[in-house]
Amino acid sequence: MKLVQIIDLFKSFQQGELQIQALRGLSMDMEEGEFSALVGPSGSGKTTLMNCLGALDRPDRGSIQVGIQRLGELKQNELSDFRLHQIGFVFQAYNLLPVLTALENVEYVLILQGVQKKERMQRAKQILSDVGLADLGDRFPRQLSGGQQQRVAVARALVSRPRIVLADEPTANLDSENTGRLLDIMEEMCDRYQTAFLFSTHDDRVVQRARRVILLKDGQVQ
Ligand SMILES: Nc1ncnc2c1ncn2[C@@H]1O[C@H](COP(=O)(O)OP(=O)(O)OP(=O)(O)O)[C@@H](O)[C@H]1O
Ligand SMILES: [Mg+2]
Repeated sequence: MKLVQIIDLFKSFQQGELQIQALRGLSMDMEEGEFSALVGPSGSGKTTLMNCLGALDRPDRGSIQVGIQRLGELKQNELSDFRLHQIGFVFQAYNLLPVLTALENVEYVLILQGVQKKERMQRAKQILSDVGLADLGDRFPRQLSGGQQQRVAVARALVSRPRIVLADEPTANLDSENTGRLLDIMEEMCDRYQTAFLFSTHDDRVVQRARRVILLKDGQVQ
């Protein structure tokens, strides 16, 4: 079933005197449960697209529809709700909270969602175990390897049961063993929960694992 419909998206940035056109009439669809790579040269608009789709940034014009929601029609608090409930983010630099343990980093999202303590612990522990970190929940991020931290980040992105996970170069800081492991986990989660995955990448090994490759050039889908 169709999950995302993006039509004619434009986004520009003012850089001093210069107006940079990051997205220039970009249109694309996404299906439920798809596992897709977003590729294209540096500056082609991958991060900008993900930020607009994840409601971290607003496009200048064009429309983004996720399920029955049109992002352009949502108010600030509705956009926060959309981010909290529909989207999971995984960033290149993990972005875990350093003062929280792995388990607490995952649990935190559920606190924001208002989930009760007992269910929070159950779900956070389950998802940590799904990503192979059942025994490391008590560790702080600095006590984990890069690959382990990124798996915590994936667990955190998934624990809220989002419909879409947006991952911006999630494997950029990982060696090939950890990259393979992370992709295995994401693919399994994609199938198990019918979560759609969209990850930007420059890595051919990652692209090969995608079930669909979306090529961006000059702010448009090629
Ligand atoms: N906040 C910003 N201010 C000014 N220009 C920006 C900003 N964000 C992005 N840009 C510009 O918009 C264009 C698209 O950038 P974007 O980050 O989306 O590219 P990308 O495809 O993610 O590149 P990369 O592969 O290097 O991550 C680039 O020319 C970039 O310099
Ligand atoms: Mg980018």
